Amino acid sequence: MQEFTDKIRAALSERSGLPAQGLKLEQPRDPKLGDFAFPCFPLAKALKKAPPAIAAELAGELAEDLDGISVEAAGPYLNFRVDPARLAESVVSAAVEAGSSYGSTRDGEGKKIVIDLSSPNIAKPMSVGHLRSTVIGGALQRIFDALGYETVGINHIGDWGSQFGKLIAALDRWGAETDLETDPIQALLALYVRYHEEEESDPELAEAGRAAFRALEGGEDEEVRRKWEHITELSLAEFDKIYSRLGVTFDEVRGEAFYEPYLESAVDRVEAAGITEMSEGALIVDLSHISESTPPCLLRKTDGTTLYATRDLAAVFHRWELYEFTRCLYVVGGDQRLHFQQLKGVLERMELDWEERVEHIAFGMMRLPEGRMSTRKGRVIFLEDVLDRAVEEALRIIHEKNPDLSCAAEVAEQVGVGAVVFNDLRRERIKDVEFDWDEILSFEGETGPYVQYTHARLASIQRKAKDRGEGEGEPDWAALEDARGVLLRIGRFPDVLRSAARNAEPSEVSTWLLGLSREVNGWYASHRVLGQDSGVTTARLALVRATQQALAAGLRLLGVAAPDEM
Ligand code: ARG
Repeated sequence: MQEFTDKIRAALSERSGLPAQGLKLEQPRDPKLGDFAFPCFPLAKALKKAPPAIAAELAGELAEDLDGISVEAAGPYLNFRVDPARLAESVVSAAVEAGSSYGSTRDGEGKKIVIDLSSPNIAKPMSVGHLRSTVIGGALQRIFDALGYETVGINHIGDWGSQFGKLIAALDRWGAETDLETDPIQALLALYVRYHEEEESDPELAEAGRAAFRALEGGEDEEVRRKWEHITELSLAEFDKIYSRLGVTFDEVRGEAFYEPYLESAVDRVEAAGITEMSEGALIVDLSHISESTPPCLLRKTDGTTLYATRDLAAVFHRWELYEFTRCLYVVGGDQRLHFQQLKGVLERMELDWEERVEHIAFGMMRLPEGRMSTRKGRVIFLEDVLDRAVEEALRIIHEKNPDLSCAAEVAEQVGVGAVVFNDLRRERIKDVEFDWDEILSFEGETGPYVQYTHARLASIQRKAKDRGEGEGEPDWAALEDARGVLLRIGRFPDVLRSAARNAEPSEVSTWLLGLSREVNGWYASHRVLGQDSGVTTARLALVRATQQALAAGLRLLGVAAPDEM
């Protein structure tokens, strides 16, 4: 479709003398008006005329320049409409040729995007907040990849802090009676809960916890170090099970501990910028330039220990030095807004010009019907259980709707996990996610299974056509005249991806998928594909194939499988 917009913009540029890149085409509010609209306001200055007069004049001139595209003036707007057969041929061929990589561009070539995603804390079950970060971050990785950027996905595991001293102390005391291997996270969680129950009445335990963390930080005590490593490994192995079900991979797994050796020099660097001060024995950076009420960033506590913020500062320096990123995105819940404000505030005060490239990609909370988690009280929802339950429900639905499906278990995994993932991505990320079991698995409505089902249906039409040997003729593209809505949606996909990347907003892709599904289902309800005139069947079948592939491409970017049958 870009060929048409390029053509229109080139002609507009020729006639107005303005550079084509600056001329923005819009989508007309009413699709009946045309496929693309150009508001003439930006030309008023250069042409020294009122926009409606410009539109009227240009409409006549452009009609001569544009072959296969009609132009009409409507007030200050120019509306363009592509010849139906040309539109059909162009869009369908592009989608079919590109197949699963439909929508890919090379926009981002040579640019690096660092994405900090997932980043759970070890020795605890992964929370639904981390699920959101994993799913949103994973989608962003794939979207940027598709646009030709080089992405670096970093899992910034929470593996450092005084709580690990406590855990080691708990292990020392109760390790003998603890089975760490069968269900490590559950066991570690139980240790953590027990520690908190007993620490208050047992000062020795509390001291042992502090001592263990000091030993861990000191780095000399092999024994303590080994215990911490063991806890880390057990946790990561559990997290990996979830990552593989979600189809998320990382380029780097660099926990907070990784940055320990870089902390000194990071703090030195901030000090060298002359923006640190001592306050009650702690080293801080004042951030009142952001707002009166913004608390300072604490770099080192009175007892000399560093903090989460110090490690993030060391990490962002490390990332900048290593990658010179175009953007560095932190996919982290909105509850950490202040933390990232402070991080950026320090960079700003250091006058680092790349500060603007650091972005907090915040998201809202996920509310499960089961209620809120509280690790300390041991009241947690295991993410794996959520996925398992979704898969179970999907299997039940599949048995009911399609009892003969051969690979039902595999498809149930794809549909169940896909439903959870899509539900997470279907609204703007900043909004909270409601989790309604009946709704997310429904084959109708704004759900993953609805899009998957639409895809499977289009795949099934193609299988039938193949069996019957149909769809081999010369396509009669004009037969897609009334599929304009489907065609335009497919054609807009590359722009949807660009916008989703710009706004770091995967929901733009899910919205597009839902729109395309609705559009194609509407079309299919009133058109027969098979058994028509050969040219008509071939063209319609090509549209079916293009749509199926476009849906598959979009689902893949979100991390949702696109089964051919379900
Ligand atoms: N582990 C942190 C938490 O669970 C999230 C880390 C996010 N990434 C970062 N670079 N701060 O709250």
